[in-house]
Amino acid sequence: MIALTTPIETVRIDLADRSYDILIGENLLGQAATYGQLPKASAALIVSNTTVSPLYEAALRQALSSHYKVIHSVQLPDGEAHKDWVNLNHIFDTLLAHACDRKTVLFALGGGVVGDMTGFAAASFMRGVPFVQVATTLLAQVDSSVGGKTAINHPMGKNMIGAFYQPQRVVCDLGALKTLPARELSAGLAEIIKYGPIADMAFFDWIDTNMAALQACETQAMAHAVKRSCEIKALVVGQDERESGLRAILNFGHTFGHAIEAGLGFGEWLHGEAVGCGMVMAAHLSADMGLIDVAFVNRLTDLIQRAGLPIQGPVLNAQDNAGHYLALMQHDKKSIAGDIQFVLIDGPGKARVSAAPEAMVRAVIDRCCA
Ligand code: NAD
Ligand code: GLY
Repeated sequence: MIALTTPIETVRIDLADRSYDILIGENLLGQAATYGQLPKASAALIVSNTTVSPLYEAALRQALSSHYKVIHSVQLPDGEAHKDWVNLNHIFDTLLAHACDRKTVLFALGGGVVGDMTGFAAASFMRGVPFVQVATTLLAQVDSSVGGKTAINHPMGKNMIGAFYQPQRVVCDLGALKTLPARELSAGLAEIIKYGPIADMAFFDWIDTNMAALQACETQAMAHAVKRSCEIKALVVGQDERESGLRAILNFGHTFGHAIEAGLGFGEWLHGEAVGCGMVMAAHLSADMGLIDVAFVNRLTDLIQRAGLPIQGPVLNAQDNAGHYLALMQHDKKSIAGDIQFVLIDGPGKARVSAAPEAMVRAVIDRCCA
């Protein structure tokens, strides 16, 4: 349906009238055809940040100029620490200052922070305008841009204020990954690794074998990793869009990870780093609960370490570190009546969500933090 000059892979998110395509390939971002057949509008707003905008906004603007009469833009400050009300409001201020209407299409140009904020702005401006995710980090291409979770942080908890709101299209330009700092690439690898233990051990084995190619950002390896990650996410989201059950497995490593992010202050560790370390902790908990053997915990830990991610959690409180983690984890969105829920590996390739005895959780935190 879309005549592009470079080969692309397409993954479909099947959600009835909210279905859309994820386009994966090199040099997609700057081609007009990438943005064909989107909802008709006279105006578009590009939302980006001060790092990504100088790299890619001109190319996106050029591509969009065949589709929109006017293209406005807003640049947010860069970083997780700015995923807040003040900057969300900056998007609304820009939309209103330009007299944008309810047909205006928003383009999120950046990683997960810009994507989550633009999605939330699109969900709420005039009760909902269309938006497109132009994902420029690996983490955004394999996870955050797909599936319609949008949010900002609250000082007391990660992604606490937001909405489920699906984009019209997701664009994953593998060429954009070439300018990504190595630490950010590692953060994205965490979310790729995540899909193995919860859903697909053949993919886990493939990642294990191809880690060096992924770290070198080799196009063929990256194309496969992005496509397979999006396929797995599409399968899960297609069955449980609003996380009434199954979708929670995509939060493997996130219960511990979100506590690390909030406990250290947003932006201190990257989201992917906290998730990588959180997966190690959740794997230890799964083993302690008799669901997997220690050999698998060691294999997963080794892979996470080879991806350049931390495998030991930070000490958040010198007096009662485990108690501090527990208090932070109670704010997790999966908690039920104060009971913390964990995504546990129920045998390699399968996950389940459940509570865990507090003494076991404390023991894992004590063992995994230094
Ligand atoms: P990010 O958006 O902060 O981007 C990471 C850094 O890379 C930033 O400094 C950014 O400016 C820079 N950058 C982006 N693209 C670049 C490029 N091509 N070249 C050079 N620099 C570039 O972080 P992220 O890891 O992409 O996303 C993390 C966020 O995503 C977190 O807020 C997390 O909560 C959220 N998230 C959301 C979901 C979801 O389902 N909505 C899933 C996972 C994570
Ligand atoms: N990243 C978790 C989810 O999309 O559900």
